[in-house]
Amino acid sequence: MEPIVFAMPGNEAMADGICRARGWERGAWESRRFPDGESYVRYDTTIAQRDIAIVCTLSDPDPKAIALYLAACVARELGARRIGLVIPYLAYMRQDASFQAGEGVTCRHFARLLSGVCDWLVTVDPHLHRVHRLGDVYHIATTVVAAAPDLAHWIAARVARPLLVGPDEESEQWVAQVAATVGCPHIVLQKIRSGDREVSVSVPGVDGWLDHTPVLVDDIASTARTMIAAVGRLREAGMRAPWCVAVHPIFAAQAYEDLIAAGVAGVASTNTVLHPSNSIDIAAAIGSAMAAHCMGSVA
Ligand code: R5P
Repeated sequence: MEPIVFAMPGNEAMADGICRARGWERGAWESRRFPDGESYVRYDTTIAQRDIAIVCTLSDPDPKAIALYLAACVARELGARRIGLVIPYLAYMRQDASFQAGEGVTCRHFARLLSGVCDWLVTVDPHLHRVHRLGDVYHIATTVVAAAPDLAHWIAARVARPLLVGPDEESEQWVAQVAATVGCPHIVLQKIRSGDREVSVSVPGVDGWLDHTPVLVDDIASTARTMIAAVGRLREAGMRAPWCVAVHPIFAAQAYEDLIAAGVAGVASTNTVLHPSNSIDIAAAIGSAMAAHCMGSVA
């Protein structure tokens, strides 16, 4: 059954892109906040016995997550047949271990919250490091859309003689895949993070790559300290100004401006999070993954 697609505030462009790619209907609703900050939702489109999908990226997640949770609960109360959540950027995946005494594995708690209110979930490259499969924490049908083909397409079209650079060992999984599709070399740096904004990286020998253009590829740019540190070390090693490509452009506070000031050739990102650097459209890939759930071909 074709889903009716609802967009949480700020997700209209992505929902429109998905509906355009698939020929699906956008649902009408009122989704807003009361003056005291609580969330309000009222479905105008009739959803009883229908499949629905709610699109809500979870950058700055805490205020959005409760609104999303309630929208899914209300859809169930109104008799929706199957409820899918489309969360292009899935927050709370990085606290995937208890790193210090007194902490918890919050990615599991967040996953339990969302798993309890929907039938399926589609996201784009969640931060899977110590948790290897989304299904290990989300107890519903899930599909991970890989941004790699769209990143590779963009890099191949825009950057001459690229050398893909992963800023840390965690990034190797994306970088190797993208480099293989572009048909270019890649290297991986070593990163040590000692605080939210304290990051240092070391660069292996790059003398053989000085005639290439480095392209830093990472899943998330949050404080951008990882990319800024990598840009600095690559420039010190004599490389050209790097391009920075992020799947999820979170760019907290002044992060984007700081990255530009670090001396990059440019910044590109997918539209999982709305940002001026968005130049890689991933809506069609998300729509295909949703279609598989709606046709019942994902268990
Ligand atoms: C690391 O675990 C991730 O892959 C990214 O490298 C990290 O989230 C980037 O964060 P920031 O932009 O705050 O350095």
